[in-house]
Amino acid sequence: MSDLSQKRILLGITGGIAAYKSIELIRLLTKAGADVQVVLTEGAKAFVTEMTLQAISGHPVRSTLLDPNAEAGMGHIELAKWADLIVIAPASADFMARYSQGMANDLLSTLCIATESPVLLAPAMNQAMWRHPATQDNYALLMKRGVLSVGPADGAQACGDIGPGRMSEPSDIFNAISQHFNNTSIQQDLAGQHWVITAGPTMEAIDPVRYISNHSSGKMGYALATAALARGAKVTLVSGPVQCVPPQGVNLLSVKSADDMLAACEQSMASPADVFIGAAAVADFKMKTATDQKMKKQSDTDEMQLVLVKNPDIIATLSENKRAKTMVGFAAETQNVIEYAQGKLERKGLDIIVANDVSRSDIGFNQDENQVTVITKEQTWSPEKAAKSELGNQLVEFIYKHTQSIR
Ligand code: C5P
Repeated sequence: MSDLSQKRILLGITGGIAAYKSIELIRLLTKAGADVQVVLTEGAKAFVTEMTLQAISGHPVRSTLLDPNAEAGMGHIELAKWADLIVIAPASADFMARYSQGMANDLLSTLCIATESPVLLAPAMNQAMWRHPATQDNYALLMKRGVLSVGPADGAQACGDIGPGRMSEPSDIFNAISQHFNNTSIQQDLAGQHWVITAGPTMEAIDPVRYISNHSSGKMGYALATAALARGAKVTLVSGPVQCVPPQGVNLLSVKSADDMLAACEQSMASPADVFIGAAAVADFKMKTATDQKMKKQSDTDEMQLVLVKNPDIIATLSENKRAKTMVGFAAETQNVIEYAQGKLERKGLDIIVANDVSRSDIGFNQDENQVTVITKEQTWSPEKAAKSELGNQLVEFIYKHTQSIR
């Protein structure tokens, strides 16, 4: 378990059935050594008692802004300064609306406006409330301002609905808090840089219900994004359809086809990025013409032919147009790995290529581990087989050093 000793966390609880889960969150945080103070909104009091929260956190619980007794202890500005991190779990639709508008009409909203520390939201509400454009706009505005977020998760809701809006589990919120503190202790040597990373497969429509795709899980690209973010880069992650959870603070652009992926990359690199990493497994071909209607079985023949045309080569196009100072590609090969990768390095105009042997069942596509060889014009480097998350850190370090050496 992460060590959160010396960390001061202010936990805001707003009105929602998920408030009961916050008791478990406090337990996890205090067990990891964090000092936790709890602030309740009026709505939250209907779901959890001050007595329970006080017993578990070991501190008096606060809920009113204009309480002379509480202010005599630690005033609300002092409390806002005390926190290394403010976590709002659950964060209701009403709270996000007030916070996004800069309102300070209760203790918790005032603390969020008064603090200079980061704020992490764990939204929780009915799926229709979460999907409502007003909630989505308020949430997007808060994200744009750098507020952190975990969840919401998808699934069965207390009201019987199914959909997005469930508060993330206490263990997931705890992990997001740990990740935040880990990131802030890592040297921010990529601050001011913009890294654009593609990840996952592309999905090329055959007709409205069928598509051509591949087994890429997106894990390598997401690991690279997580590693670059942790070192302070601004990261745009252009992702095909995957199950991975996007890292906190990433600018995620979700796409399906290779054409969409190229357009999203070009848009995000209108002013050239510092680093581009093409970790996506882009489909080489797409339908010449995807049909608008579902294709019918032909009863008079056992064969069917699809006419495919080449997809644009995203990385080669971006490299030709000098969209990033450093271009990094991946080469998934099943034979002559190094030789083919070297060919791609030149043909696609790349600075670095990361080659891996996808014929091995223990690494590569859909696996948690990977073993690669990194090739530049000047050198070849083969790190040990490692978890993709660890390899992400090593590759980001290698790319960063390479950018420094060519300055
Ligand atoms: O040619 P190949 O698909 O093996 O090249 C792999 C590298 O090129 C990867 O970095 C991949 O993301 C990128 N690529 C691309 N656009 C394509 C095909 C591959 O950017 N159409």
